[in-house]
Amino acid sequence: MAATSASALSIGSTISHGSIANQVSQSKAVGVNFNSRTHLKSFAGLKASASVSCESVSSFLGKESTAVLRHSFARKAHNLSQTSSNVLQVKASFKVAILGAAGGIGQPLALLVKMSPLVSDLHLYDIANVKGVAADLSHCNTPSQVRDFTGSEELANCLKGVDVVVIPAGVPRKPGMTRDDLFNINAGIVKTLIEAVADNCPDAFIHIISNPVNSTVPIAAEVLKQKGVYNPKKLFGVTTLDVVRANTFVAQKKNLKLIDVDVPVIGGHAGITILPLLSKTKPSATFTDQEVNDLTNRIQNGGTEVVEAKAGAGSATLSMAYAAARFLESSLRALDGDSDVYECAFVQSEVTELPFFASRVKLGKKGVEAVISSDLEGLTEYEAKGLEVLKVELKGSIEKGVAFAQKQAVTA
Ligand SMILES: NC(=O)c1ccc[n+]([C@@H]2O[C@H](COP(=O)([O-])OP(=O)(O)OC[C@H]3O[C@@H](n4cnc5c(N)ncnc54)[C@H](O)[C@@H]3O)[C@@H](O)[C@H]2O)c1
Repeated sequence: MAATSASALSIGSTISHGSIANQVSQSKAVGVNFNSRTHLKSFAGLKASASVSCESVSSFLGKESTAVLRHSFARKAHNLSQTSSNVLQVKASFKVAILGAAGGIGQPLALLVKMSPLVSDLHLYDIANVKGVAADLSHCNTPSQVRDFTGSEELANCLKGVDVVVIPAGVPRKPGMTRDDLFNINAGIVKTLIEAVADNCPDAFIHIISNPVNSTVPIAAEVLKQKGVYNPKKLFGVTTLDVVRANTFVAQKKNLKLIDVDVPVIGGHAGITILPLLSKTKPSATFTDQEVNDLTNRIQNGGTEVVEAKAGAGSATLSMAYAAARFLESSLRALDGDSDVYECAFVQSEVTELPFFASRVKLGKKGVEAVISSDLEGLTEYEAKGLEVLKVELKGSIEKGVAFAQKQAVTA
């Protein structure tokens, strides 16, 4: 992995002078500069040179992450100011593969990843033809090189040397279906893809989007174990969309500024296994019992709301792509050395008696650095009851995934 210390600055090739850098070092001209009006912006690759803003409400990041990101940027600017160079040639440095890149989530996700200043190489894989998506994206004037890989014979090449693999491959829900109804098709797809990940990029972070996440993550863990390369710190079920929805719905309900709101969501990623901890909302907010019930139900059924509105044309794709891009950006920042990156994710865990559980985790260069158990302390009666109920369903889904993977030997 070739992360450079400057990669958080890596939009375009040259960054122009401005205010934040001058705050960092007023004594001499610095190599990193910022457009004076804007600040540090994640995914600001729309403009190939310069301006990065941390303050935009459309940032993927919440207020705290934004502050950390800006601090990191300032630190790097300061370090660079100690060098003699006047101009910073910034380089994106991470390789990302999306498996299922031609799909409803895959395409908008690929676009968002193409905009990331941290990505040098973007590999798009699908069993459907993904050449057109790659050709289309490759015309965007952002730093990453896009390559397409269609069909299983090209999968190994797609994965070699990759730092993060994101997996949205599989079938989505139709009205009336639960995520578990997808198990029979998606379990096999995830198993096959993870075998290839184990063979070709066993050290990569693995982000699993394919549903049912409550089962596909345990399947992936079993396959990686069978291949002898399981690293629980690097396997993630992507539950970010539950947090994104919780933040949005709470901000709307309470008239809060969206960028300020952070609601931890724990448990799993299906129906009642999704448990938003409204009592831990930041900034702290008070809710009536009715509001807690309504908000919890809406967050748990946010996916179904979209499935029904799409009336047979699939499930959440755009908001999911946004959420997956946020989780990817957080992972890349962690890989790049930022030491204050927190996200909710479904990971191997000891915070409950279940082997996998979604909660806030601290991300670092080596993956999960810590699982934040304190969120489960001091729950309200409503949340504590929700936790007990969800554990029963989640246990069954985890066991179903493990049994599936153990029944079928991996290919050598
Ligand atoms: N984790 C979440 O919060 C969340 C949210 C929404 C959807 N999802 C899940 O994401 C998955 C994808 O949803 P979508 O709307 O993009 O579906 P989609 O059908 O639009 O796209 C899926 C893509 O996967 C590809 N594919 C199928 N089998 C493959 C294989 N073996 N290898 C590589 N690619 C393969 C298809 O060709 C297609 O391009 C579904 O399982 C859905 O339930 C998860």
